[in-house]
Amino acid sequence: MKLLVTGGAGFIGANFIHYVLGKRLEYAITALDKLTYAGNRQNLTGLPEDRFRFVEGDICDVDAVNELVSAADAIIHFAAESHVDNSLSGPEAFIDTNLTGTFRLLEAARKYNVRFHHVSTDEVYGDLPLDAPEQKFSESTAYHPSSPYSATKAGSDHLAYAWYRSFGVPITISNCSNNYGPFQHVEKFIPRAITDVLLGEKPKLYGQGEHIRDWIHAQDHADAVLRVLEKGEVGETYLVGADGEKSNKQVLESILEIMGKPHDWFQKVQDRSGHDRRYAIDASKIKQELDWQPRHDFQSGLKATIEWYQQNRHWWEPHKSDTEATYKKAG
Ligand code: NAD
Ligand code: DAU
Repeated sequence: MKLLVTGGAGFIGANFIHYVLGKRLEYAITALDKLTYAGNRQNLTGLPEDRFRFVEGDICDVDAVNELVSAADAIIHFAAESHVDNSLSGPEAFIDTNLTGTFRLLEAARKYNVRFHHVSTDEVYGDLPLDAPEQKFSESTAYHPSSPYSATKAGSDHLAYAWYRSFGVPITISNCSNNYGPFQHVEKFIPRAITDVLLGEKPKLYGQGEHIRDWIHAQDHADAVLRVLEKGEVGETYLVGADGEKSNKQVLESILEIMGKPHDWFQKVQDRSGHDRRYAIDASKIKQELDWQPRHDFQSGLKATIEWYQQNRHWWEPHKSDTEATYKKAG
């Protein structure tokens, strides 16, 4: 099985590649990644040379995409501009990569009749109220994206499905909740907070911290994507989540407790514009139809993630000040 993994040098793409090459000895992977600020070649070290190849390139580049897709059995499409805050300060790259890039890949999949798995997000469904815990996203929830990021991901989901219905491209889609784990860029909430504490800075909480995210370990997400690739039904969407709902304040308090700081050792900062209140996933379909289960529990997964950032300062320290400068510039 020859996989083309786009965005393989990013957080979840890298976790997926390590997971699959460790678990499936008959798989070979080519990673295509533009190495934007979010991609890091170091995420892909220590992989078997006979089964792994890295290609630096853009998913919007038709020639590069066609050459790689023609040699693949399946595409796993992770590449994206992925950070909501960046999409508020500069949406154009999100249009280019998330929409045009996905279109280029789908066209190549159509040309060479290659299986296509599209990795997407729960943010395409918009948000849920804070005071209705019984409500969750499911595969039948209407799309209602709120940010330029989620709008472009929603558009890319629609493109994938249209290429299946109109052209017969063998696609599947997965929409996952918030991931945490090793290799996550320091712009994102959990690594930003951990690395702030490691540098002796108080971590930042947007608004009052009452917003809720549904956390899942990136390795459980990787396992779900592999399951959909191998057992999923073509044309179907699968929601992926691990019943990990927590408010941002709760997450921060857990990080502070594990790192030996007082529970209120944080600073409240200006809230995100249009901030989605709550995400929550009903993952019954993938559990029942594909026999998938998450394995990591949040507290021990968070502890291991904190240890990873403690032990890999060389990985994140060079990017920390640039990231904070970007936040400062965006206000
Ligand atoms: P990330 O920002 O860490 O990584 C994205 C990768 O894509 C980077 O390596 C970057 O260099 C690469 N890339 C960007 N533009 C490219 C282009 N034009 N051509 C080739 N490569 C390009 O993102 P992530 O958090 O690993 O997310 C991966 C995917 O999973 C995204 O599609 C995202 O929407 C989806 N997702 C993420 C989460 C989450 O919690 N992080 C949850 C659900 C779904
Ligand atoms: O739900 C899946 C999505 O999760 C993915 O599709 C996105 O790619 C991924 O970035 C993530 O989006 P969020 O916007 O939920 O993640 P982020 O880490 O940026 O923020 C998580 C929550 O924490 C959010 O409510 C905003 C808040 N936050 C964020 C930062 C960076 C803070 O309170 N303080 C911070 O410093």
